Amino acid sequence: VSTPLAEVDEASAWELLLGLAHRGASASPAFPVAGIELCEAAPRGWQVVGAHTPAASVERLLDLYLPLCVGPRAHCLVLAHLATSLDGRVATESGNSQFISGHEDLLHTHRLRALFDAVVVGASTVEHDDPRLTTRMVEGPSPTRVILDPRGRLGCEHHVFADESVDTIVIRHAGHGAAMPERTTVIEHTGACDDLPAAFVLASLRARGLRRIFIEGGGITVSRFLAAGTIDRLHITVAPVILGSGRPAFVLPTIETLDAALRLPCDHFPLGGDVLFDCPIRSVE
Ligand SMILES: NC(=O)c1ccc[n+]([C@@H]2O[C@H](COP(=O)([O-])OP(=O)(O)OC[C@H]3O[C@@H](n4cnc5c(N)ncnc54)[C@H](OP(=O)(O)O)[C@@H]3O)[C@@H](O)[C@H]2O)c1
Repeated sequence: VSTPLAEVDEASAWELLLGLAHRGASASPAFPVAGIELCEAAPRGWQVVGAHTPAASVERLLDLYLPLCVGPRAHCLVLAHLATSLDGRVATESGNSQFISGHEDLLHTHRLRALFDAVVVGASTVEHDDPRLTTRMVEGPSPTRVILDPRGRLGCEHHVFADESVDTIVIRHAGHGAAMPERTTVIEHTGACDDLPAAFVLASLRARGLRRIFIEGGGITVSRFLAAGTIDRLHITVAPVILGSGRPAFVLPTIETLDAALRLPCDHFPLGGDVLFDCPIRSVE
């Protein structure tokens, strides 16, 4: 069934995006809208064929989210998102971050959750924000929640463990932490290092059928995946606020000169009063 482009509104475009995101690796990438052609290698991921153009709100949805749903990497994508201040902080020193960015970025975060199989956060984010990591603000499935808690320091009272409406996975070093509720799966890492290697985390999730991974924060967690070269795409929303101190978005190995900086290709989208920088890191191979 193919819907004419002129009839596609925001709700039906979102439904199409959800369908594409969750269609699995083997299904056809056909986009059932007459007048839109997918061009998987192109930067926008799609183009209009014929006379009609979509409404501006539909065009914006497709521009932002279609590249996350089509292309050779789409069935196995790792995307990280952070909201930062103008001075690159994700929270105050004491861990307060609600909210650095505005409503549209919060909506964007819920949309990302709906488009991915799993949402990953570090132990400090659970400790300070006590998030649910569900898709309360948008249509679409809540992802499996993945908590990186290497030393098993989080108690069962946090929402991600106590709310059993969605599966939770906690990844920690073997021999650490208390027993977890029934709907929480514990994956143990048995290595000598302090780190939970990014490759181990991703391989463990893929082995459970979780292939589209959204890393929601905080800064330490995103930085470790970035340093390991495992992030395909970064979404950084910059809000016009200066904290002057606080937890940094990125902590990466020291560099001496700007030649060594990670300079990324980037598109940008206004999100209310904030600006989203959309950076594909690992381009189509
Ligand atoms: N602005 C945003 O977009 C945003 C998003 C999410 C959270 N936040 C805020 O950010 C703050 C937390 O960020 P954060 O950077 O301090 O911490 P974080 O990334 O939330 O958590 C870091 C901790 O998680 C564990 N961890 C994460 N990755 C690991 C790995 N690969 N190997 C081993 N352990 C790993 C470690 O736990 P141990 O300490 O036990 O070793 C690490 O110290 C909170 O205040 C939250 O409110 C902001």
